[in-house]
Amino acid sequence: MIVKLILVKVVPGRRDEFIRQQRVWNDVMSRQPGFLGVQVATDPQSPEDITIMVAMESREALERFMKGSHDNVERQTSMKSLYSSLKVQVLDVVDSVGTTEQVRVDLAASRSGKGHPVAVLSELYRVSAILRVGVQAGLFEAVDAGGTALTALAARCGTAPEHLRRLVEGLASFDLLALEDETVRIRPAAVRYLRRGSPEYLGDLVLHNTRPALWKRWAELGEQLGLPVREEEGHERFILAMKGIARAGQVEALLRVLDLRGRRRLLDIGGAEASYTVALCQRYPELQGVVLDLAATEPLARADLEEAGLGERVRFIAGDYRQQLPSGDFDVILLSNILRGEKRGEAAALVRRAANSLSPGGLLIVQDLFVGEPRGTGPLLAALFGLHLPEAMNGSVSEVSALLQEAGLTSVRVQPLDGYVVADQVITAVRPA
Ligand SMILES: C[S@@+](CC[C@H](N)C(=O)[O-])C[C@H]1O[C@@H](n2cnc3c(N)ncnc32)[C@H](O)[C@@H]1O
Repeated sequence: MIVKLILVKVVPGRRDEFIRQQRVWNDVMSRQPGFLGVQVATDPQSPEDITIMVAMESREALERFMKGSHDNVERQTSMKSLYSSLKVQVLDVVDSVGTTEQVRVDLAASRSGKGHPVAVLSELYRVSAILRVGVQAGLFEAVDAGGTALTALAARCGTAPEHLRRLVEGLASFDLLALEDETVRIRPAAVRYLRRGSPEYLGDLVLHNTRPALWKRWAELGEQLGLPVREEEGHERFILAMKGIARAGQVEALLRVLDLRGRRRLLDIGGAEASYTVALCQRYPELQGVVLDLAATEPLARADLEEAGLGERVRFIAGDYRQQLPSGDFDVILLSNILRGEKRGEAAALVRRAANSLSPGGLLIVQDLFVGEPRGTGPLLAALFGLHLPEAMNGSVSEVSALLQEAGLTSVRVQPLDGYVVADQVITAVRPA
């Protein structure tokens, strides 16, 4: 094990912002293969001193991080203006405790607000599903000890590289595999427990515990327990789920990083029941809103707009954002949790449409959950998102930023969202005057 010790002198008055940005580093580092732990310590007697200790399995693991995600997260956080000096030491720890055969489940509460761990818990069945598929497909045996090119591995497993990539990204997000420079590597926990032939092989247990007959009974757990369960699926439940995320902290997280003073006309594309539009109009009294969503959403949106007393200031337009956007001189457009579920070509076309609907100087805001960079580093929810829909874009910050630039937008800015529930970052960009 090695420990990287970073002694920071922050610029006076910037300590809280430094710590906020450091959380993004912690978040990214915690998903690197070989990560063991991080501590950030402050000294009440000396508020400008911060000590950061990062523990990794080996120097190689640290070097992989430095060559991989380090520069991306440095660009995203732009911490250089927040400290006046930085001293770094890398220490070898001779007697380490613990094991490197760890499986990571990305539930760390420090990453976000209170709602996020509950959102993760609601999706953990997906972890079981991809673990099952990995074992069933013989993936852990198919990876060579020194790593296998993703395309070769896809051929070995008999599937398309783009499909295998998503599965590998999912398994990498809890550290059973790693994806580095298009090469898939097997991680220690998978070598020990999931590679057939290992004396401690647990693959049969995985298959037994996830067998369809048992799975079905768990899907009907309420009935098994004699509990009255109502199954309500469909559009209304989906929109209520979006409303829940918004109100459990996502709206506040977004509001904290935006400054819409002086802006007048907002278009919220796929704005659902209008939680974000309502909050923005309440915060900025000069803002008028238009919410575009499917006709099926209209009753819920209208009810919430009336309840908020915004029936006059916000218009709901039923339509299809894949076809066209409402006309209007919008000086701010929101795409919240829209792009990651679209196919790449559809996402690019939608961004172009949005850019063309902005007035000169207008602001495009993309709030979303982004996969880590390089891909295969989680976060868990992003790695699992849409795995059953491999054509969904599920983009990284760089990929989405590139779409904005290709649409002619400038001043691209990425901000982490503190206290998020699902969407972890926001990208803003401006239509040139
Ligand atoms: C993932 S939800 C995001 C909702 C909201 N923006 C948020 O962040 O909570 C996607 C929204 O887009 C809407 N939607 C999906 N396809 C659409 C389309 N083709 N045209 C307009 N709205 C659409 C859905 O009804 C839903 O409200």
